[in-house]
Amino acid sequence: MGSPLRRPLVAANWKMNGSRAANGAWVSAFSGVDTPCDVVVAAPAVYVAELAATFAGTRVECGAQNLNEHQAGAYTGEISAEMLVDVGCRWVIVGHSERRQLYGESNATVASKSERAVSTGLRPIVCVGETLEEREAGRTFQVIQAQLAAILELLSVDELAQGALAYEPVWAIGTGRTATPDQAQEVHAALRAQLADRDAGTAMALRILYGGSVKPANAADLFARPDIDGGLIGGASLIASDFAAICAAAGGTAAR
Ligand code: PGA
Repeated sequence: MGSPLRRPLVAANWKMNGSRAANGAWVSAFSGVDTPCDVVVAAPAVYVAELAATFAGTRVECGAQNLNEHQAGAYTGEISAEMLVDVGCRWVIVGHSERRQLYGESNATVASKSERAVSTGLRPIVCVGETLEEREAGRTFQVIQAQLAAILELLSVDELAQGALAYEPVWAIGTGRTATPDQAQEVHAALRAQLADRDAGTAMALRILYGGSVKPANAADLFARPDIDGGLIGGASLIASDFAAICAAAGGTAAR
């Protein structure tokens, strides 16, 4: 697993799934599970307050899936970083490819949101990733490095390290088509090298998660790679026992 410098992190991205009843059942099923890694559950915004209260005092922390880049005001339907903090949220996913693709979030917007998160003490999980078309055109590194460069215009590596970076190839999300451990490691290493250009010491401490069709069956192989420090888990996170198995795979050989 990753490096002993970095404690593994596994984050659930429930996306637009769940209900109070289903969430309660998930929490009960997961409550007895030993989690040898840091664990975050990023829930739909309406459930964040209740889940944050439920997880208080456990090793699971609650996250949101989005935030607005402004502080307050006339932004109908939006939720600020301060509001998330107010209800006990600790983490927030920023720049997920579904937000970039379906809701038009640009690299600049993702950077502003990341900055807002950090300025309020929320820990961002900032997502980067290429589409299939970009990969096939040989542009993977160019796309990902531009996405990270936009973040680093507003955040220092140290600030980003308060959260995590997530590599999520768009073609692997929800498709059952996972990046191979080699493909993922290659990109993670490039991201870490880009971070190291700015701040070599902190780059070694920053966690880079892989996301995209991670399942209990493939998690251990991915997490065994030196620059893969955990995962951002969509579909498989909805089933508490699958998510627990993925957390166990991240705990394997890691720093405690
Ligand atoms: P997936 O989603 O695990 O269902 O592929 C990952 C994500 O979108 O974060």
